[in-house]
Amino acid sequence: MDECQQTSGTDHYEQRARPNDVKIAVIGMGYVGLVSGACFAESGIDVTCADIDERKISRLNLGEIPIYEPGLDALVGMNLEAGRLTFTTDVAAAVRSSHVVFIEVGTPPGDDGSADLEQVLAVARTIGRAMNEQKVVVTKGTVPVGTAAAVRATIEEASAFPVHVCSSPAFLKEGNAVDDFMKPDRIVIGTDSAYAADTLQDLYAPFVRSGHSVLMMDVASAEITQYAANSMLATRIGP
Ligand SMILES: NC(=O)c1ccc[n+]([C@@H]2O[C@H](COP(=O)([O-])OP(=O)(O)OC[C@H]3O[C@@H](n4cnc5c(N)ncnc54)[C@H](O)[C@@H]3O)[C@@H](O)[C@H]2O)c1
Repeated sequence: MDECQQTSGTDHYEQRARPNDVKIAVIGMGYVGLVSGACFAESGIDVTCADIDERKISRLNLGEIPIYEPGLDALVGMNLEAGRLTFTTDVAAAVRSSHVVFIEVGTPPGDDGSADLEQVLAVARTIGRAMNEQKVVVTKGTVPVGTAAAVRATIEEASAFPVHVCSSPAFLKEGNAVDDFMKPDRIVIGTDSAYAADTLQDLYAPFVRSGHSVLMMDVASAEITQYAANSMLATRIGP
């Protein structure tokens, strides 16, 4: 797929679940995962949010938000009450019950400054063991080029079900993250799968009604987009 091409991608259209039936899992309830899960639920999608941190999940099930982000507590509260948002420590069950799985765990810098992918690959191993049907898997973190390929290889070591691994980086500013997700300047989707392109475009459609388009590109281009955007921002605030 050419960079920044809008796809029509209808080859698998008939086979995929209709948008309202699509269930998603968000794995990793940090800053990015919690905002994404709450915003997707607000758009009408059933979202299962999973994290291995039992204390964090217990608090979220009580509607207690571990971070301060304007508007987030209301979104979580309303969608918990509506039954569209659930929180669990059972990551495998969240994967099994979902058509689309977003990996939003941490990627802390290692000793040499490169992103430590241990959490991402741990989730990929869990997804591989839990696969029970064709799924779309999306990496949303700040990850180096080649991460989606590594995630795909890890999942395929444990499963023969088709898996479409995509990259869709998060462009969220702390303090404005809910607004950034709901009314994004841009949504980037990196995939070589028409099935995944269609599925993700449907999921993101409610967030681009104000006219901003979804930028479709190949996986590696999407992976480098976050680094390019961060570098550009750093040069703007530099001396
Ligand atoms: N924080 C930001 O402003 C920001 C903005 C844009 C992009 N990003 C990127 O988004 C990604 C996520 O960042 P964050 O700040 O939300 O992360 P975070 O470190 O705050 O949270 C990660 C969460 O993942 C959970 N986790 C770890 N291993 C797990 C596993 N195996 N299964 C399930 N859950 C697991 C942890 O318990 C934790 O709650 C990173 O790649 C980051 O670089 C962050």
